[in-house]
Amino acid sequence: MTIESLYDDVTPIKPSKAFSEKAIIKTDDDYNKANTDRLKFWEEQAKQLTWDQAWDTPLKWERPIAKWFVNGKLNATTNCLDRHIMSKKTDKTALIWESESGDKQSLSYKQLHDKVCRLANYLSQSCNIKKGDRVTLYMSLTPELAIAVLACARIGAIHSVVFAGFSAESLQDRLNDSESVCIITGDIAIRRGKSIKLKEIVDQALDNAPSVKHVLVHKRTTEIVNWVNNRDHDFNEALNSSSSYHEPESMDSEDPLFILYTSGTTGKPKGIIHTTGGYLTHAQYSTKIVFDLKDDDIYWCTADIGWITGHTYLIYGPLLNGATVFMYEGTPDYPNEGIFWDLIQRYKISIFYTAPTAIRAFMKSGESIPEQYNLASLRLLGSVGEPINPEAWNWYYTHIGQKQCPIVDTWWQTETGGIMITTLPGLHDMKPGSAGKPLPGIQAQCLHDDGTAIHSGGGLLSLTEPWPSMARGIWGDSKRFNDVYWSKFDTYFAGDGAIVDDNGYFTLLGRVDDVLNVAGHRIGTMEVESSLVDCPKVAEAAVIGIQDRIKGQAILAFVILKEGISESIDLENELKQFVAKKISPIAKPKAIIFTPDLPKTRSGKIMRRLLKQAANNETLGDTTSLSNPQIIKDIQKQLSK
Ligand code: WTA
Repeated sequence: MTIESLYDDVTPIKPSKAFSEKAIIKTDDDYNKANTDRLKFWEEQAKQLTWDQAWDTPLKWERPIAKWFVNGKLNATTNCLDRHIMSKKTDKTALIWESESGDKQSLSYKQLHDKVCRLANYLSQSCNIKKGDRVTLYMSLTPELAIAVLACARIGAIHSVVFAGFSAESLQDRLNDSESVCIITGDIAIRRGKSIKLKEIVDQALDNAPSVKHVLVHKRTTEIVNWVNNRDHDFNEALNSSSSYHEPESMDSEDPLFILYTSGTTGKPKGIIHTTGGYLTHAQYSTKIVFDLKDDDIYWCTADIGWITGHTYLIYGPLLNGATVFMYEGTPDYPNEGIFWDLIQRYKISIFYTAPTAIRAFMKSGESIPEQYNLASLRLLGSVGEPINPEAWNWYYTHIGQKQCPIVDTWWQTETGGIMITTLPGLHDMKPGSAGKPLPGIQAQCLHDDGTAIHSGGGLLSLTEPWPSMARGIWGDSKRFNDVYWSKFDTYFAGDGAIVDDNGYFTLLGRVDDVLNVAGHRIGTMEVESSLVDCPKVAEAAVIGIQDRIKGQAILAFVILKEGISESIDLENELKQFVAKKISPIAKPKAIIFTPDLPKTRSGKIMRRLLKQAANNETLGDTTSLSNPQIIKDIQKQLSK
């Protein structure tokens, strides 16, 4: 059985001539080179980095473990910082930061290098942290978090960034799983006008995290925090008291650079391991070609460093390219719904990379908000994290990009380390809702359940050749790594459903566990959700499968209405008909639940698993990653009525 595409064909949109003429990638050359000799192509990209020692073999592949650029040696921060300060970029702005309360900071490459070296010295000299030790970072999105990430990389400590919205319990699990010897945190984080006492959460987590010997605290306020002598250190004093000269650790290409925890289908998070040479190679290359990154760009990726997008496309990728990166500590709707557009106008942001969930929230509040700002500095838009439905795509293209900016819809995962599938902005036509083609050097296929390839149509997405930034394992659990990603097929199983068309464009359908089977038809939850959101009265939607005696599965939809629209039986029927008409009668929801919100992770992903458990009257599984835990209880109540 194949996954069926029920979308109508969409008309491709060409990037403007003005954009294409100046684009970094204008031809198929890189695709051709990679197709002719993939390893040579990746070696060429790796040569764009500065190595202390050249590699002797490009790839050793013993499925599922890849070794890239074998025996090469390099340091991430030499590449992100030192080589720029030895060039004319030394005084170029590396980071610009603003917080929701209006605090500002700007650091040149030289200043950033200085701080990173000071912290590196402190960590190694005063905390005795050595190459290979794990250091957990639990901080809000500030320049100090970027400094801490880079300081770890400089001394060869493996950083594990935990998003500063996770609970003490989640933090404790991650500290213990990684056996971190040190945690770097802040006194507070600021979110929607409230201050969150990070140090208190850390102290709670440390109740039972015996490996942690040192706590560095970046104080942003004069508030007194609990202090444990001989364990706690003042971050600012650490910088002031340390030398700004630091010799970077020369790392093996395959030494781990970081661990990043991500959720799987079971409750226990997976510590995904990325190593140095291959990861940095792809981070540098993909940032440059996908975002068409040029020297005078002001680049803003709205992701937090707590997620992979923040690692690769807020820190490593742009800094490797010597770019100017804008960082904002705040949410899209606080202190007002125009804050993002205000920032774009004030900082003349030229590249803007965000998530569909944010775009749909902007749509909900209407285009009259961005219309009040001058967004003419923008030249490229990006989307990541989940499928972007064509309506949101078109809204983004029209109201934010003024139909002048190409959109790159980038498909990838924590496990892939960097972007795998997208259009290249100056080269390819865009198809709203479809991510595009695998990047040069990346091979993807849709597979049948039995592993045979589908050349046109829907199936399970697999990456079929090893690539430099692929995950090297799950921390402490090589069996799980093998089971989750490498046991279904011979090649890497991404866990997503996708449709590939005759032009080689991939349209993502969401996680496979979210694929519905209605009367023998496999339908992506995304397609149904997308059609619901297409209805002008609907702000957001999530659908799940519920058991149905006749059809096997029926569709239950959860719908958030736009402001000013009230729920009614008539509206429910209207929406059902709308989907039936838009997609097909087989995709028509059996019932619609109107709700003011949906259960979402802190990174904005809808947790359909919880909706399924609520609908099937099962006890709820792990809810610790929910940003709004109350809503699932409210939905349970509503369903039991
Ligand atoms: C989904 C985020 C459709 C997908 C970088 C993937 C997407 C999961 C897209 C990884 C996209 C990410 N279109 N789906 N452009 N980007 N996804 O690890 O289901 O947080 O498997 O990495 O997000 O999420 P993760």
